[in-house]
Amino acid sequence: MQTFLVTGAAGFIGSHSVEWLLKQGVRVIGVDNLRTGRLENLVVAHTSPDFEWVNADAGDETAMRILFQQHRFAGVLHLAALVSVPESFHEPALNYRINLAAADSIARLCLEFDCKRLVFASSAAVYGVVASLPNRESDLPQPQSPYAAAKLAAEVMLLGYAASYGLEAVCLRYFNVYGLRQDPASPYSGVLSIFTDRFRHGLPVIVHGDGEQTRDFISVRDVARANGEVLTRGGVASGRYNVCTGRAISLNQVLAIYRELFPNTPPAEYAAARVGDIRHSLGDPGLLRNRLEFNAKIPFAQGLYELAHGEDKKSVVMA
Ligand code: UD1
Repeated sequence: MQTFLVTGAAGFIGSHSVEWLLKQGVRVIGVDNLRTGRLENLVVAHTSPDFEWVNADAGDETAMRILFQQHRFAGVLHLAALVSVPESFHEPALNYRINLAAADSIARLCLEFDCKRLVFASSAAVYGVVASLPNRESDLPQPQSPYAAAKLAAEVMLLGYAASYGLEAVCLRYFNVYGLRQDPASPYSGVLSIFTDRFRHGLPVIVHGDGEQTRDFISVRDVARANGEVLTRGGVASGRYNVCTGRAISLNQVLAIYRELFPNTPPAEYAAARVGDIRHSLGDPGLLRNRLEFNAKIPFAQGLYELAHGEDKKSVVMA
């Protein structure tokens, strides 16, 4: 049985990715320091005998070296991150350590222990404000935050190791990921986690701007499958790949779907647009489709329905 390492396993994307992997019948060692991850996200994973959780910081090279010594990893999915863009402005040193240095350290451990494949969680944020949409991997990135800069720098390091030492480094640029377990606590949390939380409590949502801004929203279940397939199937050349649907949806369109799901909630309130807000974000999914035959499968309305009505921890892991 193959064993894979997942860092950030107790996070939003991490916990869904771990479940996808366990369903394939592989063994998963999940690392998380619970800085933003939550143990309850791993309730389903813990029902599998093939899952082990390790309380450790992915950037702690000594702790991670012990895991690499104990297991012969077939691949590593490195998701552990400082995920808040605003926090990266306030804590640039922490952003450097978590989002760049930890990725470099994990990559060097892969080389040291002959673990061939490293899948890295990058972000559409690396594109910044590019002139034309949809964003393609060949576009010149223009990071607008310490977060985006660190993600891009990590991509460069990993792809440098790929060219120098033959590591298979696959950097996945996630667009706007939504789904169960995304934390709605901060005003800068993903908009769909905030909206769902407020609708559930019968509260009005606040739309920043006119609601005509668009995003390429992708379900976390599609993202988990992309992560898992790249990690387990192999055959994806080192490089950068968008993980997106290729479809733009405006907040006003989102609200129209919510109105069907929550007919009795008060109407949305419109407020001033956020400073620095991007008007439109859209990815081209063509490269990952060509290399892996990967297509996002979950239609947005279905994904939103699952988010609104889904009770978490329902699915059962079949190991
Ligand atoms: C994402 C990042 C953000 C980063 C930006 C640029 C997340 C959750 N956010 O923002 O930190 O700066 O990419 O790379 O990853 N909105 C509302 N009402 C709300 C919350 C949000 O109208 O209560 C609007 C926002 O102003 C925005 C849209 O919804 O226009 C989407 O917001 P968000 O989910 O934060 O995603 P991004 O703007 O793409």
